[in-house]
Amino acid sequence: MKLIAANWKMNPASLKEAVRLAGSCDEKGVVIIPPFVFLSAVGDVLKKAELGAQNAFFEDDGAWTGEISFRQLKGLGVRYAVIGHSERRKLGESDGVIAEKVVVAFKSGFRVILCVGEHWETRKKGKRAAYNFVKKQLVADLAVLKDRRFKIKNLDLIVAYEPIWAIGTGRNDDPEDAAEMAGFIKEVLAADFAVLGGRVLYGGSVNARNASGFLTRPEIDGVLVGGASLRAGEFKRIIAAGK
Ligand code: 13P
Repeated sequence: MKLIAANWKMNPASLKEAVRLAGSCDEKGVVIIPPFVFLSAVGDVLKKAELGAQNAFFEDDGAWTGEISFRQLKGLGVRYAVIGHSERRKLGESDGVIAEKVVVAFKSGFRVILCVGEHWETRKKGKRAAYNFVKKQLVADLAVLKDRRFKIKNLDLIVAYEPIWAIGTGRNDDPEDAAEMAGFIKEVLAADFAVLGGRVLYGGSVNARNASGFLTRPEIDGVLVGGASLRAGEFKRIIAAGK
């Protein structure tokens, strides 16, 4: 079964809408990733879908104003954590910080959805440039996996390939190219980190029309959906495309 993840980002506006939206897409194989403020209420609604967080901090507790720990999220029943989304990298989150978060996420028992992906500046130089960019991010962000003593279950690592130029632009990557990139990411995970069976999602302007193009490729294990996950009817069609 493919993984269909909904990254709601800083939406919707009210708790009422969040609960309604969650109720309408509560299906197996779905991960709902609402803003922190709605996690608890959305968690109460979900019976089949799982819960994810859009970010978390690398300390468990203490004087860190405005931060939220993996430990706190665990207590709410959150199973997945998005780490290194490009919208957070743009705000200044570095590979060093992302790598620290990855360690704590795994140690806390989360399934990590690590986001990687290149800018258009890079992609326009060709696929090889994009591959190099993504590999550099993987090597920096997953540094801990080089330590053979640090063991993870393969299923706990999910890489979301989200080319920045495709996010929120309506300009999705070509499914063939995305599948090739997913294959490349799996090669890197196997060769550099001995992670076999890590999953790769595609994200960036996925909608009900183009979803099956990605979801029918064997290299692509699911999709990470932003805007289209906020429209119940459309998101349900994306879920159906993953079955
Ligand atoms: P869109 O689906 O709105 O392009 O967003 C993708 C994304 O960033 C998911 O994390």
